[in-house]
Amino acid sequence: MKNIERLISQNKSWAQAQIDRDPAFFERLEAAQKPKFLWIGCSDSRVPATEITGALPGEIFVHRNIANLVVHTDLNLVSVLEYAVHHLKVKHVIVCGHYGCGGVEAAVSQKSFGILNKWLRNIKDVYRAHGEELSSLADPRTRLRRLVEVNVEEQVLNLAKMESIQKAWKRRNAPLLHGWVYDLHDGIIHRLIQLGPDSNIDPLYLYDEL
Ligand code: CO
Repeated sequence: MKNIERLISQNKSWAQAQIDRDPAFFERLEAAQKPKFLWIGCSDSRVPATEITGALPGEIFVHRNIANLVVHTDLNLVSVLEYAVHHLKVKHVIVCGHYGCGGVEAAVSQKSFGILNKWLRNIKDVYRAHGEELSSLADPRTRLRRLVEVNVEEQVLNLAKMESIQKAWKRRNAPLLHGWVYDLHDGIIHRLIQLGPDSNIDPLYLYDEL
């Protein structure tokens, strides 16, 4: 069977399995989505949000891009965030990176990737901001793993710097922001950072009269 035909055929089996498990499954989901989580993850095919968390359709609103970046001028990210936080009113925003991230690896190389350089540049800036710590790590693999972690932490901070998040914190005391890293080696997620309405944000990035 051609690969693409396999997907269509597996979809039919999957839909039937859902009905067998829960006859009202699609009826309920068709009516509305009420996800409690927004997931900002890497596009990497090995890190699918719902599968690795055992979540069901309807539970996680998802945005994925190369190296799970929160870029405040990215209209796609900003729109997903605004909708999730102010319309769906999610309770948690999760930034999930992963060890062995190709985007992070590409960013520390001197190889040119054409237009991708503009995206990867954000990761180079993260490296520079943590240059002292990272350059003190002699083992390149350890350094790369640490860069994956600090990249997640910086993206969570980027969320906290956004008006959209600060407004939600002021109005409804939510959402909580979480930074996680997924290990491709054993499939386990590790928590790195958590920020909420009571967290101290650099006043330079705080907005008033939201
Ligand atoms: Co990745």
